[in-house]
Amino acid sequence: MDAWVVAVDGPSGSGKSTVSRRLAAELHAGYLDTGAMYRAVTLAVLTAGADPTDAEAVVKIASEVTLDSGTDPENPHIRLNGEVVDGEIRGPDVTGAVSAVSAVPAVRALLVARQREIIAEADRIVVEGRDIGSVVAPDADLKVYLTASAATRAQRRSAEHDTDLQTTAAAMARRDALDSSRAADPLAQAPDAVVLDTTELGIDEVVSRLVELVRSSR
Ligand code: C5P
Repeated sequence: MDAWVVAVDGPSGSGKSTVSRRLAAELHAGYLDTGAMYRAVTLAVLTAGADPTDAEAVVKIASEVTLDSGTDPENPHIRLNGEVVDGEIRGPDVTGAVSAVSAVPAVRALLVARQREIIAEADRIVVEGRDIGSVVAPDADLKVYLTASAATRAQRRSAEHDTDLQTTAAAMARRDALDSSRAADPLAQAPDAVVLDTTELGIDEVVSRLVELVRSSR
C-alpha cells in the first residue's frame, strides 16, 4: 500500500487510544498520540510552577521545550526535554490542567506544526486526538470519529485508572465541555468522518471494522 494517514478523533474514554494503537500495529503503520504532546507541555508548565491559565507563560514554556514522540504502536512513548514522561503525564494534576493549556491558540499552532511534520515523515500513520480530521490532517485518507455514552466512557476511565466513578465522571464531563467549547480547534467531528459508537462494541470488533475500512479506502 502507498503512504496513508488515518485520523481518529473523539472524546476521552471513547476507546481512541487502544483502538488507534491496535489498528496501527495490525497494519504495520506508525502511531501518533497527539494528546500526549499537550499533556507533556502541561507537565512542563506545572513543573515550572507556572499558572496553566496564564497564556503568555504557557506559550513561552511550550516554545522552549523539546518534545520527542515515538511512533511505534508497540512501544509508544514521549520524551520531554529528553526524559520519558509517559507515567507522569497521565496523573490527575496534568489531566486537570491540560484543557487550559491546549486551549491556547499559540500552543496549538506549535504542536499542530510538529504533528504535521511527524505525519509528513511517516509512510503510514494512525493519528489520534481531537482535531486531527478537522485541522491537523484534513486530507487524511480515512477519518474516524469514535464515541460512546458518557456513562460507558466514565466507567472505562475509572476502571483503567482505578478511580472513583463519580469523581471520574465529573472530571471527564468538565474536560469534554472545555475541549468542545474552546475557540481554537475544538473537539470536532469532521463532516466526512466515519462515526463509530463503541458503547456496545468490543475493541476487537471496532479494530476489525477499521482494518476493513482502511483496506477498502486504498
Ligand atoms: O487524548 P488525551 O485525553 O490524552 O488528551 C488530553 C487533552 O489534550 C485533551 O483533553 C485536550 O485538551 C488536549 N488535546 C487537544 N487536541 C488534540 C489532542 C488532545 O486539544 N489533538
